[in-house]
Amino acid sequence: MSQSYENLRGAAGRERLFRPRRYKAAELFAGAPPKLWFDEEEFALQDISVQGAGCIERGPQTADAVSEPGATGLLRLTQHGRDLFRAAARKARVTPTRGGAVAGFELTCDHFDLHRIVRDNARALAISGAADADNGVTAPREYRAFCADAAAFVGDYLQRIDRFIGPIEAKLSPEERDDIARSLSEDAKDGWVAVLHEGNRLAAASFHNKAQRIAMKAFTERVVTQMLVEGPGWARCYYKPAGYPGDFKIMNYGYERRPEGKTVREKFLHLLGMIASDAIVSRMETLAGLISDYALSRGALADATKGVRYAITSVGAGPARELDDILAATPSHISWDATLIDQEPAALDYVYERIAGMEGRERLRLSALNISFRDMLTPSRDAESFMDNDIIYSSGLVDYLNPLLAQRFVKRLYEYVKPGGQVIIGNVNEAPTGMIWPLEFVTDWSLYFRTEDEMRAIARDIPGAVVSVISDPMKAIHFLIVEKPA
Ligand SMILES: C[S@@+](CC[C@H](N)C(=O)[O-])C[C@H]1O[C@@H](n2cnc3c(N)ncnc32)[C@H](O)[C@@H]1O
Repeated sequence: MSQSYENLRGAAGRERLFRPRRYKAAELFAGAPPKLWFDEEEFALQDISVQGAGCIERGPQTADAVSEPGATGLLRLTQHGRDLFRAAARKARVTPTRGGAVAGFELTCDHFDLHRIVRDNARALAISGAADADNGVTAPREYRAFCADAAAFVGDYLQRIDRFIGPIEAKLSPEERDDIARSLSEDAKDGWVAVLHEGNRLAAASFHNKAQRIAMKAFTERVVTQMLVEGPGWARCYYKPAGYPGDFKIMNYGYERRPEGKTVREKFLHLLGMIASDAIVSRMETLAGLISDYALSRGALADATKGVRYAITSVGAGPARELDDILAATPSHISWDATLIDQEPAALDYVYERIAGMEGRERLRLSALNISFRDMLTPSRDAESFMDNDIIYSSGLVDYLNPLLAQRFVKRLYEYVKPGGQVIIGNVNEAPTGMIWPLEFVTDWSLYFRTEDEMRAIARDIPGAVVSVISDPMKAIHFLIVEKPA
């Protein structure tokens, strides 16, 4: 309903003093913001408005280069050594942080022309970006030949789509396009799986040589990624519009496996991505099997007329698709108290809305905490939500944690399960049957691809725990199972 002018109020309180909009630098500059210099001090640009900029100090600086709050000096924005902007500025504030300092700058008598800076930053990146990406090391010849073969494999299909489907595409309904894309991806499946396995083998062999890995990734992005990102799933994995990899929408692409996109080309490329991420489904199904089996083995002893409840918690729950399989695999006298933990409120909302009509919903009592897994590491009032769980599981989260943090995290989860209970951790492996090439090399989705020994090492400091590691049927995921003796 339209409002009358006399009821339009503007802002109240501090908001009355209007400040021009601040943009996140990573978003404004497509993930590659310019550097900010204040005289000789170097900063990483975090946010920017037409009037000022917020930055993180890039250490270590020489002591005499560091200026005090209130100091005035020359502010420059540079990309690949090219000046994009120069003007006088004041260091308005400095806040020390654990790793350095954050600083705010105000321009003294000029304004950032954001449109011009964004344009010149993009131009500087386009001119110099590729040369820098090489880092002085080139990808091995065998790997470059492999990427060329992979691109030729995909290009062969795209060429045939353009030649034979292109001329009739405008007359096809979306369903007909889906259908053709599905037939093409089924036809491509065996050959594409062979490409993926070879990519995984070559990627794993060079993974721990950092300079070589960077060069191989840069080469892959130019030759293979470039082609695949026309498919919506590859694009979302590569560009990460949520600001982090593995958001619940990406995960849902993997679970739903629909031919996303408008054209047959896009749909076909998307479906190649679904073949590459088959392990997402296999991981979820294996996890659901482990949880259902736990309940079935213990529930078999329970009196079916009374019913039995199990408490489970998922950390980094995302879309929590395993709940469907858990309900489907367990009989009506088994009920579940499930706690979902995720930093992303939209993911939790999605789960509540999706399960509303799910079969067996009456056997599921759901609660959710919109917190970080880090909040579980220290004592807090949330802890009672996950005390005495039968199972605490985390699938697709520990993959992002360094070994020390992973150990700390799993040890803490172990404290929260009851005697007889389990902690279950799903983590990508480094095998040729896994996902190291499409994730790390094609879509720049960085993870800890762990060996079986590295999985066991996560639980090595938990006294008395019964530790085992199993694989999913595709041999792409390790599951660490840490059981607390009853
Ligand atoms: C790769 S997804 C896996 C989702 C789900 N477990 C699955 O297997 O489908 C990772 C999830 O972890 C969540 N996440 C990322 N950082 C987190 C944090 N610090 N605390 C809690 N959740 C986090 C993300 O929001 C995302 O939903």
